[in-house]
Amino acid sequence: MSYKNISLSRPGIYVPPRTHVDPQKDPNVITNQDLEKMVDTNDEWITRRTGIKERRIEHYLGVHEMGAKAAEAVLKVKGYDGKDIDEIIFCTNKHHLGQEFKHHAGYVGEVINVRDGIPMHDEAAGCPSALYGIRAARNNLIAEKDKNKILVVAAEKLTSFTNYKDRSMCVLFGDAAGAYILERSKNPGILEIVTHGKPDRKKVLGLKRGMGFQIKPSDDFSLGKFKFEEKEDNYIYMDGQEVMKFASEAMSEAVHEVVEKAGYALKDVEVIVPHQANLRIINSARKNLKKKGSKGEIIVNIEEYGNTSGASTILAHHEGLERKIIRPGMLVVKVTFGAGLNWAAMLFKQE
Ligand code: UT7
Repeated sequence: MSYKNISLSRPGIYVPPRTHVDPQKDPNVITNQDLEKMVDTNDEWITRRTGIKERRIEHYLGVHEMGAKAAEAVLKVKGYDGKDIDEIIFCTNKHHLGQEFKHHAGYVGEVINVRDGIPMHDEAAGCPSALYGIRAARNNLIAEKDKNKILVVAAEKLTSFTNYKDRSMCVLFGDAAGAYILERSKNPGILEIVTHGKPDRKKVLGLKRGMGFQIKPSDDFSLGKFKFEEKEDNYIYMDGQEVMKFASEAMSEAVHEVVEKAGYALKDVEVIVPHQANLRIINSARKNLKKKGSKGEIIVNIEEYGNTSGASTILAHHEGLERKIIRPGMLVVKVTFGAGLNWAAMLFKQE
């Protein structure tokens, strides 16, 4: 069996659901207009500098529970049962709610009722965590002949690391989860994966402990959609300009590298699914790739969800399939970057 004969399923996803037709009245949606009421910002600045209009926020579920919902969704997509799964890898930056011990993968195993004896573990690698998890799953399927199906879950809840009085950070993040099942297949599926990292020596992206403001749904809507809670916690800091420089380069280089390594040319790629961190980063990568001969369509859904970290390319992949931009047999690249600093790309044939 070639190492390319591992298929990647269609994704299962979970996003905090809409609860109201009007996003301005929906506590699960943070609109730019909501942010205008929290900090000194405006819709025009956020749209022009990031491309984001809305993001979802999960008020009740922990990241492990969001991941379990995505796992249930992908089992449904494949028509499988928890008992069919031979390993679970849970990818996230967020270890919270006292869940570091036990790991989130064990929680998912409990919910989907897996067989006793299978390995279950977590993977943390910044926004590229899901691609790192997929790489581990593929490698394990190649190396361990008793494994046939591995569940990879990615869930993020960066809104709970966000200080809603910090205007440079609170406009960016949203919550979501996604999951895939990787399995042995007759036909080539995952053609190549590249993963890279370099130490964040200048400390451009991470968490810092301090006082900040978290948001909760309001008890009294007439006073506004959200209420604030001032709390000492870990909050995201980022040197946005530095991350943008690194990201624009890393994205186009990783796409180029993964395609070449698999023996293809950029012009062969039909769709590119990039990490949704900033529309300007996506557009800059688009320009670089076009110069190098890329004709692939680029999936963008940042406007509706913001940056959902490790779940972002899974949501975008799901949307590409729903919109039929991605169809069976197509050659697709996923590419992502983030804290670490890490970056990664994967070339695959859509199942
Ligand atoms: O997935 C993890 C990786 N993360 C990313 O990829 C994010 C990468 N970086 C970015 O997306 C952008 O750097 C940001 C959206 C975070 C910021 O955009 P920018 O164009 O780099 O703006 P900036 O930080 O250089 O700030 C420009 C100005 C500043 O004001 P002065 O100093 O020029 O007076 C900021 O204080 O914009 C100000 N500013 C804002 N103004 C209105 C910063 N945030 C806001 C805001 N509303 N929300």
